[in-house]
Amino acid sequence: MPKLAVLSQTFFLVLNIATLLQICIAKSYNVGDFGAMADGKTDSSSALSKAWAAACSSDYESTVLVPQGMFLVNSVSLYGPCKKKVHLRLLGNIVAPSYQSLSNHQSWISFNNVDGLSFIGSGTIDAKGSSYWSCKKQQRGCPYGARSFSLQGCNNVLVNGLKSFDSEGVHISINQCNNITMQNLILTAPDDSPNTDGIHIGNSNFVSVLHSKIGTGDDCISIGPGTKNMWMDHIVCGPGHGISIGSIDGTPREEGVEDIEVKNSVFRNTDNGVRIKTWAKPSNATVMNVKFTNLVMKNVTNPIIIDQEYCPQSNCPKGVRT
Ligand SMILES: *[C@@H]1O[C@H](CO)[C@@H](O)[C@H](O)[C@H]1NC(C)=O
Ligand SMILES: *[C@@H]1O[C@H](CO)[C@@H](O)[C@H](O)[C@H]1NC(C)=O
Ligand SMILES: *[C@@H]1O[C@H](CO)[C@@H](O)[C@H](O)[C@H]1NC(C)=O
Repeated sequence: MPKLAVLSQTFFLVLNIATLLQICIAKSYNVGDFGAMADGKTDSSSALSKAWAAACSSDYESTVLVPQGMFLVNSVSLYGPCKKKVHLRLLGNIVAPSYQSLSNHQSWISFNNVDGLSFIGSGTIDAKGSSYWSCKKQQRGCPYGARSFSLQGCNNVLVNGLKSFDSEGVHISINQCNNITMQNLILTAPDDSPNTDGIHIGNSNFVSVLHSKIGTGDDCISIGPGTKNMWMDHIVCGPGHGISIGSIDGTPREEGVEDIEVKNSVFRNTDNGVRIKTWAKPSNATVMNVKFTNLVMKNVTNPIIIDQEYCPQSNCPKGVRT
């Protein structure tokens, strides 16, 4: 063979190996390859963190895969920014350890400062919150209680198909985020479980929740101060306390809530349907431009309620006008 042909063949071979490597690098990071065990007993937290770190530092858009099986995961915080978009594909079931080890953490699975995450899959996360709720009901000086799934400072996120059961506290918490779409969620906890809100949002812009079924012991969705441009469409809510805006509680420099829409949704066996709650305290925060359209209420105590003297405790402030 002439020298040139050999050279060019070698060149192509090298090119092909490079392409192959790229594909390999870009393919999914299976938590099993980082030491996770699908036995529901072995702590797979660090395997999940390592798989995340690998995907997040990859030069290619990549996937963290949690395959079928049951994985025990303690509190994990996954950080961005990542080099490229990361997909988290959950096929298996993630379960929490005992409440003694989880409930001291603010959150169970949290994503922090991630831009361009997509969380997809038919799997579940189950925080097994019942022992924590018993502690709370007996008021035994319980720890904080972890939120099951939290997005902190994240942008451009899609959460599709997340199923979350029996959270200790809030199922999904969103804070300081932008452009978050959540759809096809199923969030469940018993109607007497304390403070198990479905989704709590604060200080965030452009969040939508679509086609989701939420039944918990607290608000299906609670929309806190600093939330703007939020859409909820095709929500089935109940049991629980309905969809609430607030509370606006007079914290210094608190931001208001603006441009909120709830439409085409059903509330069944809930205390409230849609609610706006503000404490009777001085505040510069306002709730503006809220639209409720085509809502069906079945066995709902207060279908629409605007409570300007919200105060679930004793020692309530007296009515204030500013
Ligand atoms: C919002 O995020 C999605 C990913 O979920 C992305 O496709 C879309 O381009 C983003 N929209 C804007 C206006 O950045
Ligand atoms: C109405 O809702 C309450 C909870 O708010 C529930 O206890 C009761 O069973 C419901 N009634 C019917 C007829 O579904
Ligand atoms: C409302 O804003 C004014 C002017 O910025 C400020 O002086 C006042 O302390 C604020 N009040 C509250 C309750 O935040």
